[in-house]
Amino acid sequence: MINEKIEKLFNDQMQKEFYSAYLYLSFEAYFTSKNLKGFAHWFRVQAMEERDHAIIFFNYLNLVGGRIKLQQLDAPEWDFKSIEEVLMKSLEHERFVTRSIYNIVDQAILEHDHKANSFLKWFIDEQTEEEANAEQNLSKIKLVGENDGKGILMLDAEMATRVYVIPAPLAATNQP
Ligand SMILES: [Fe+2]
Ligand SMILES: [Fe+2]
Repeated sequence: MINEKIEKLFNDQMQKEFYSAYLYLSFEAYFTSKNLKGFAHWFRVQAMEERDHAIIFFNYLNLVGGRIKLQQLDAPEWDFKSIEEVLMKSLEHERFVTRSIYNIVDQAILEHDHKANSFLKWFIDEQTEEEANAEQNLSKIKLVGENDGKGILMLDAEMATRVYVIPAPLAATNQP
């Protein structure tokens, strides 16, 4: 059982997670167009994780007998002035998602939905990590500077080493 209010918030959050995947694919494409394959790879992995986040909400709604309502996704921005602009936007987006998760937790507590509250704990911790990663990426590009070709290439090589790991809640369900 899930009440309508929480069901709607979960459906909305699922849409935000799918949109995140869409946005990060757009970032990936931008970096590919700039020949920065490491940055592109980093955002591909990020997009895969966001799709996973959406599916974790999808699976949860099924588990508690909620109705899944897939929603329209806006077209993400596709062109940017600089690497820094993209990394800033990724940090802003993660902060937006964090606020959204916190809001659902607040509502779950108000509605005494302890199941939802417990489920959302993983996402709170995940958002802490997501914001930290985005902040780190942004501070590195600020440190290196957009015009230091050598520094950018070093950073690109570092971004290329990111490895995709299936998120724990999804690995546990056998429904990836
Ligand atoms: Fe996410
Ligand atoms: Fe995220």
